[in-house]
Amino acid sequence: MMKNRHLIEPENLSLDELERLFDLAEKIKNDPASFQESCRGKLLASLFFEPSTRTRLSFEAAMLRLGGSCLGFAEPASSSTAKGESLADTIRTVACYADLIVMRNPKEGAALLASRYSDVPVVNAGDGGHHHPTQTLTDLFTIKQLRGNIENLTIGFCGDLKFGRTVHSLAHTLTRYPNIKMVFISPPELCIPDYIKREINRVDGVEFYETDSLDKALGDLDLLYMTRVQKERFFNEEDYIRLKDSYILDAEKLEQAKKPMMILHPLPRVNEIDIEIDNDPRAAYFKQAKYGMYIRMALIASLLGGASC
Ligand code: CP
Repeated sequence: MMKNRHLIEPENLSLDELERLFDLAEKIKNDPASFQESCRGKLLASLFFEPSTRTRLSFEAAMLRLGGSCLGFAEPASSSTAKGESLADTIRTVACYADLIVMRNPKEGAALLASRYSDVPVVNAGDGGHHHPTQTLTDLFTIKQLRGNIENLTIGFCGDLKFGRTVHSLAHTLTRYPNIKMVFISPPELCIPDYIKREINRVDGVEFYETDSLDKALGDLDLLYMTRVQKERFFNEEDYIRLKDSYILDAEKLEQAKKPMMILHPLPRVNEIDIEIDNDPRAAYFKQAKYGMYIRMALIASLLGGASC
């Protein structure tokens, strides 16, 4: 039972629970009308201390489509955080009003801290460069919907692997599936953190290598997970400008890829995927954004006990 649990990082869910969420999300996608009363009378608080389009709006759309209601803020300047209130006090207060808290915060560990002060479930919608577990749910549900399984894949992660929390959460979670190979493609300054490599190394049978060449890796991949260089996490503008266009996937480059290779991107994109690729059948990133709403509907319903999971 997932009712009343916190979701801070993907490890909080067993493989069995992931599968049940995917099954429920598929049912919701195929028959949304059957779930439109699942969360009637429940309130979701979305507390976004950092900008967001997909995560905040898909959570709010998900709750509204389940018959529930939403409250919250999209930037901390409009909350009492601007007056110096601590995160702990904000969470204690919001937990008095809402049944579920979805929070994004620039500080690593903020969601875990929030969970310690909340009587209602807290869902981490991104804590700094650390984790983004519901993006991982979105990514895995998209792979499952479009490929049918999450096993036997060679996955390339490309771009800012240092600060990209979606990469950290997904790479870590993929180690739980059979016969996964990962290729980490980044400039040396933006390579995957050592703690993620250590976590992968702990699991028998998962292979990975690092390279700075997208060209060399592209032909081997079943799935390419492109990411944006995370401007907001850089300490100086100069480094960002030097690194921001390290990789640009365009139609010419894509000719080197396997015909069925899937392209995912958590979005937002800046320059790293040329818009000429958007209509290529391999480009799945806008479907991914839509699937994110269905999997979040499944998650909300499960945490609030509005549908069996
Ligand atoms: N994928 C993602 O987290 O997008 P937003 O920053 O728009 O929420």
